[in-house]
Amino acid sequence: MEHPALKPTASSVSSPAPGSAVDAPLRLVQVHRDDAELTRQELIDGLAAAQATTSPKFLYDALGSRLFEAITELPEYYPTRTEAAILSANALAIAQAIGEVGTLVDLGAGNCAKALRLIPSLRPARYVAVDISVGFLEQALTDVQHRHPTLSVTGVGLDFSSALALPPDMVQGRPVFFYPGSSIGNFTPEQAELFLASVRRQSIGGGLLIGVDLIKGVEWLEPAYDDALGVTAAFNLNLLRHLNRLIGSDFDPRDWRHVAFFNPEASRIEMHLEARRALRVRWPEGERRFEAGERLHTENSYKYSVERFAALLQSAGFARTRCWVDAQGWFAVFWAQA
Ligand code: AVI
Repeated sequence: MEHPALKPTASSVSSPAPGSAVDAPLRLVQVHRDDAELTRQELIDGLAAAQATTSPKFLYDALGSRLFEAITELPEYYPTRTEAAILSANALAIAQAIGEVGTLVDLGAGNCAKALRLIPSLRPARYVAVDISVGFLEQALTDVQHRHPTLSVTGVGLDFSSALALPPDMVQGRPVFFYPGSSIGNFTPEQAELFLASVRRQSIGGGLLIGVDLIKGVEWLEPAYDDALGVTAAFNLNLLRHLNRLIGSDFDPRDWRHVAFFNPEASRIEMHLEARRALRVRWPEGERRFEAGERLHTENSYKYSVERFAALLQSAGFARTRCWVDAQGWFAVFWAQA
């Protein structure tokens, strides 16, 4: 499914790291969205809605991405280390279940740390790292290329939050998509099914390796999204500065408080920013008044049972699934054959 607003633009080839025997050059491709006005309108519509809401993708400007990396190192934030432990404890079984890998497509690759742990057991011929900005990927991919000189490495800057459409010819041989970190939880279940169906169409003959956060007690879930150091609070509040840059608004982060809680009916963590006092936010040609205690909804993070997620994969068209879970039953890694 091609997204009309996405069109591939210039690709560049960076030179190999000094002293490394690089056989395949590193390729970087930015797929631009010609969407400054669309983004602005989407944000303003969300701010003006009865329940003010912004998409979680706006949490990730350059500082937001670094704050998220810091979150993954917090003792309270169990998903990253639990998933890493599952992947390393079951590396052989996972590699056997997956079989031959032509292209490993890493969705939301970030610092590529997770893929770097998989590459030795999966031994792909090609590695395609996808993230919202190719600039975030360049350093990490230089490192991947340095460690695996014969691997063909490509970085793609692409916002796949509304549609996943990789530039043509990017995937060669048997495709294996990798979507770790339970980022699928930041979609609603309906959006998740559509997204998974589009991954399935693009991974026919191969499949998808995906990490999913599981339902657990609120005593574990809530601190993971409201840590003692306030790193998640900073990550959430930083969104306001990003909005100020994107729409020219005058949010002052000091007027807002981070709120995170588990909503058991919807089976999701909700993150909000709550106004500390009655205030008015202005942007060119618009404004909104927030009462004290009124909230801006910034993120959902859905938590699944193994059964519910297996059913979602099946509804998305995946044929056979296998799943590995840690001893506490906190996190699951699924292999779904397309
Ligand atoms: C990226 N995503 C899976 C994270 C999550 O757990 O939903 C984002 C995050 N938000 C707050 N902490 C981490």
